[in-house]
Amino acid sequence: MRRAVIVMRRSLSGIVAGALCVSLAAHAQAPANAAAGASLVDAWRAVRIADCARCHGKDHEGLAAPSIVGFARTQSRERFIAAVLDGNPPMGMPAYRGNPLIEDRIDAIYRYFVGRADGSIAAGAMPPSE
Ligand code: HEC
Repeated sequence: MRRAVIVMRRSLSGIVAGALCVSLAAHAQAPANAAAGASLVDAWRAVRIADCARCHGKDHEGLAAPSIVGFARTQSRERFIAAVLDGNPPMGMPAYRGNPLIEDRIDAIYRYFVGRADGSIAAGAMPPSE
């Protein structure tokens, strides 16, 4: 049962990733500040667009998939980045390597979840600009 749900989610995530590619291509002309270091607000937006919450639950605190906040609290930056970019496709976690929405902001995304974990960033709200 759980396996069937995950398979369904995975095919859905393929569709979403395809849609994201189209919308990102449309924005390809926009100046990318990503390489220069995305802000926490950029990271927050990207995480919402990618909809990590549909598997990781409201405020990313765990649902079918484990809490991202808890993972950022206990794991190193390297392990966090590997978990997101490499994913674990057989277990239902997509690999985001090659997805510029996430990969270009991975450091800021890590900092966002560290802020959530240490309480300096509130759940549900846009983070303060740095
Ligand atoms: C299609 C569902 C799905 C989506 C979307 C998804 N994840 Fe996951 N994620 C999972 C599952 C399932 C796991 C657990 C994999 C495992 O058991 O190793 C996981 C694991 C993780 C982990 C490691 C947590 C741990 O305790 O092992 C991190 C970090 C993570 N995801 C971050 C993200 C981020 C950031 C996004 C959005 C960019 C995202 N995930 C989107 C399903 C998803």
